[in-house]
Amino acid sequence: MEPAVFDDPRTTAHDSNSAAAKPGCKRVNPRPQRLNTWFTLIPVAEYEKKRPSRIPFLDTFVTVEPIGADGETPYAVFFEGKLPMTAVVEIGVLFVWYGDDLQKPDRPFPTLFAEPYDSAYVTSTATLFEDTHVMDFVENGSDNLHFRAVHLWEYSKIYDHVVTAETITLKQDTRFRYGSCSTRRSIRWLSKVLPKLELTQDYVYHGPGLAVVGATGSRIPRMHALVSLTPEGANRTRVYVTMAIDPATFPAAVERVYGAITRGRRLCDLLARIMANYIKNEFDVDAIIWKNKKYLGASALLPSERHLRDVIEWGKTFYPKGFHAPATPERPAEARQWRPLDTLDNVAPGQVHRYTIDDAELIARRDAGGTVRVYDAFCPHQGAHLGFGGVIDRDCLRCPFHGFYFDSEGRCIGPNIANEHSFITSLNLTSVSHRVRDGRIEVWL
Ligand code: FES
Ligand SMILES: [Fe+2]
Repeated sequence: MEPAVFDDPRTTAHDSNSAAAKPGCKRVNPRPQRLNTWFTLIPVAEYEKKRPSRIPFLDTFVTVEPIGADGETPYAVFFEGKLPMTAVVEIGVLFVWYGDDLQKPDRPFPTLFAEPYDSAYVTSTATLFEDTHVMDFVENGSDNLHFRAVHLWEYSKIYDHVVTAETITLKQDTRFRYGSCSTRRSIRWLSKVLPKLELTQDYVYHGPGLAVVGATGSRIPRMHALVSLTPEGANRTRVYVTMAIDPATFPAAVERVYGAITRGRRLCDLLARIMANYIKNEFDVDAIIWKNKKYLGASALLPSERHLRDVIEWGKTFYPKGFHAPATPERPAEARQWRPLDTLDNVAPGQVHRYTIDDAELIARRDAGGTVRVYDAFCPHQGAHLGFGGVIDRDCLRCPFHGFYFDSEGRCIGPNIANEHSFITSLNLTSVSHRVRDGRIEVWL
């Protein structure tokens, strides 16, 4: 089977028209957004263009004032709210330290690029991702399996993955077409005519807010990218991508002709701007998963995903001192009762039906024999909501995040449907007790 294409992922699952069904699933991530790390706040050029009087940043407001053309950092940065934070302007981007000690960061500002290119570092437009935690981005960067199922990349291999107290470094070999997973149909069509790319990417994460990437490949120019992740509020993250293309990539004659036509502009800068927006748009399809997924404190990762567990633990080292995740309240047994879910007729075969009853998220499907199955909506692997983007394929339910298949009994057979007799029992779906009476389905909740 082809990987699931997110044609319109918000409607691949079917919202039943029962009273319990709701169009969205608002999740609250129990992890703190206030982390001990450097964050990228805003490209200064963008700030100057829009001139907002105050930039909201967690529980603080920030303003930036130019203080003359000379000097290493010709900007004064003011904070309202808590103590003044440390601010640094590098490659045209304003970074701030937001650690426990706001004035004296115990991590020096890192070297972003050992050899910056002699070209502009330009930025994409910024996008605010709702219901998304900064660590969702960092974890996905090390999450090899999702690149095929979510981004539809033909090949992805992560290696040399090293997690230290301060950084995560990794290499990734990939083969893909940019935009093939885009949520926009026009970009997906465009991606069909773009050449397939094979490239190697070097990643360094300097804390959750700063991902530095270098890319090389046979058919692409050498690129520097900075993925800027800035938390806003308890569970939102603003993202933009800063890019530069090595000008040595283009023959001098090509640059000269382009410069003559455009009165001095550089092709490398134009390409950098296009690439910055392309890369940022790749996150749109991740965000569909993140928006609805449940954060699993102890996710049931496979042995081959040990490095991902290290990344999750690494994220916790940036929490403020003394932070404890809020406990999830259990519904007491005496409060449980039979609750109406849907009518039998509504649960059509071949679809995943989603429901919200109080704080419970459920899915229902009919197997090939017509039997209704009801499960907890969250995939036990990494908590994706199976009702948003989950599909039925050959009587199995396929998770949109890593493409794992669950048979009609809810047993996980991994990402390869051919493994139909080999189960990963730690990843079985959680069945919800239900009964059918007079054409109505009820659940015990
Ligand atoms: S979350 Fe990974 S397969 Fe479902
Ligand atoms: Fe992703």
